[in-house]
Amino acid sequence: MTGPILALRNLTKSFPQGGAFDRLLGRGSRFVALDDVSLDIQRGDVVGIVGESGSGKSTLASLAVGLAKPTSGEVLLDGEPLSRLMRNHAGPWRRRIQMVFQDSSSALNPRKTIGRCLTETLALRGVERGAREAEAIALLELVGLGPEMAPRLPHELSGGQRQRVGLARALAMKPDILIADEPVSSLDVSLQAQVINLLSRLTRELGLTLLFISHDLALVRTLCTRIIVMRKGQIVEQGPCLDVLEHPSHPYTRLLISAVPKGIAGRRTPASPDMPAREPARSANAG
Ligand SMILES: Nc1ncnc2c1ncn2[C@@H]1O[C@H](COP(=O)(O)OP(=O)(O)O)[C@@H](O)[C@H]1O
Ligand SMILES: [Mg+2]
Repeated sequence: MTGPILALRNLTKSFPQGGAFDRLLGRGSRFVALDDVSLDIQRGDVVGIVGESGSGKSTLASLAVGLAKPTSGEVLLDGEPLSRLMRNHAGPWRRRIQMVFQDSSSALNPRKTIGRCLTETLALRGVERGAREAEAIALLELVGLGPEMAPRLPHELSGGQRQRVGLARALAMKPDILIADEPVSSLDVSLQAQVINLLSRLTRELGLTLLFISHDLALVRTLCTRIIVMRKGQIVEQGPCLDVLEHPSHPYTRLLISAVPKGIAGRRTPASPDMPAREPARSANAG
C-alpha cells in the first residue's frame, strides 16, 4: 500500500485546568498539551521523537495508539480514521499498532508468569492453543531471553529483562507499528544499549515501523532515521536524523543539542560499539 502507514492530521489535545470549583463555574481554562500537530509516518520509518519533559510526546503517543481521544483532528491508520476503526473494539487495527512503556513492570500483571502473559497475548491474536507455547518461547528468544523465563513472575526478573518481556508481548501481536515511549529511561546504561541494539535489529529484521520517544539525543541518533523535535505541544523541526542533529535549523533544537554534556557526536554510546565515530557536529548556521 502506498501513502503513510500512520498520519496525524491537525491533532490537538487539551486538558481542563484549574480546580473543580472553577470548572463548575465554567471558569476553568484548558491546557493545550498537543497543538495542531500534523505528521506522516511511512512504512519502515524509524522515527525519534525528542523534546523536553512536558512537550507532549506521551500525549502524541497515546492518541496515536487510541489510548486517548483527540480534542480535535484525526489519526489515520493506512488512510483510515482511527476513530472509525475503534468502533470495532476487537478489530485488527488493535493488533497492528502496539506500545511499549517506560516501565514495563507496571504494565505486566504481577501475578501472571511471563509464559502465561505471552500465551494469553498470542490467544488474543488468534494463535491456536497448541502452537502458543512454542511461539512464546520463540518470542522470548527474539528478545534475547531464554525459555527458563517462562515460569517466572515479573518481580523475579531484572528491569532490563522485564523491558524485554514488554517488548516481546508487544511483538506477540505482530504489529506493523511499534510506539516505544521512553523504553529505556528506567534502565542503566549497559541495559539501555542492549535494548537499543535489540530494537535496531527488530526494525531491520521485521520491517517494523518504530516511533521511539526519548529525551536522549545520542540514543535517537544511534537508532533512528528520522527525527521530530517537539516543544510545547508543537513540532518545531523534523527531518532526516543526522541532518537535523548536525545542522539544526531551529534554536530550540540547538539548545537541546547543546544540553548534551559531551555533544551528541562526541558521546560514543555503548549501543553502537561497532559504529564508526562520526565527525563532531559542525555548527552549520553561524548564529
Ligand atoms: N491527563 C492529563 N491531564 C492534565 N494534563 C495532562 C494530562 N496528560 C498530560 N498532561 C500535560 O500535558 C503536557 C504534556 O505531557 P506529556 O505528553 O506527558 O509530555 P512528555 O511526554 O513530552 O513529557 C504536560 O504539561 C502534562 O502535564
Ligand atoms: Mg512522556
